[in-house]
Amino acid sequence: MSTYKEQIDKQRIPQHIAIIMDGNGRWAKKMGNQRIFGHQNGVTSVREVTEAAAELGIKFLTLYAFSTENWNRPADEVNALMDLLVKTIEAETPTLAKNNVRLLTIGDITRMPNQTAQRLQQCIEQTKHNTGLSLVLALSYSSRWEMTNAIQNMVQDAVNQKLSPNDISEEVIANYLATKSMPDPELLIRTSGEYRISNFLLWQIAYTELYFTEVLWPEFRKEDLYQAIVNYQSRERRFGKTSEQVTQ
Ligand code: FPP
Repeated sequence: MSTYKEQIDKQRIPQHIAIIMDGNGRWAKKMGNQRIFGHQNGVTSVREVTEAAAELGIKFLTLYAFSTENWNRPADEVNALMDLLVKTIEAETPTLAKNNVRLLTIGDITRMPNQTAQRLQQCIEQTKHNTGLSLVLALSYSSRWEMTNAIQNMVQDAVNQKLSPNDISEEVIANYLATKSMPDPELLIRTSGEYRISNFLLWQIAYTELYFTEVLWPEFRKEDLYQAIVNYQSRERRFGKTSEQVTQ
């Protein structure tokens, strides 16, 4: 029996994979522990998928680490998550640098605590010339925030006569989004058996293949990523055309 890794077609590796990391709290409860224990263990899964993605030559890996709505969680959980984020980024920056990984963020960083934002900025700065995998952390991110922000900027540019209604195309809109200069994800994975998009990359996933797994995020390992990629590669992406058109 071959492993999922062996079944991957190296010629058809997705350029961009996005992941909704879910199930940390439920996993912690299952282990008889506090929610933060789940987030702490989720870091191991982040490390695993980052390493696997870099090894496979994937260009972009976008992880939904903290949504706009997550600000509404109890303050002690929010603080613990911010703390975990800073500590993880600090500890992992040398490894990212060594492995040619570039860190990027999408989201409303102005809402993050100063110290968290500064550390993130330092890591972004230190890895900005790396040409391998781009690890994109969605932090204080939601699609509706992103679209609202984009529309505000477009209207501002229109007021300043830098943009007129006839200029507005799909490409122009994409350039006002936080993901500008990133390809759309070919594959979106959500863990923990929830079948929702939760305000994540709504514009960008128009033609993305969706993959849902029961695995809780702290238990997600490289082999789970390989399985998702093998499943993705078994699908026929038609982009609105007929099967005959895309297979010719
Ligand atoms: C969802 O599980 C997970 C989060 C909201 C946070 C994800 C954060 C990490 C994995 C750790 C830090 C990340 C990085 C990038 C260093 P949940 O809490 O919603 O779980 P539940 O649905 O079971 O309650």
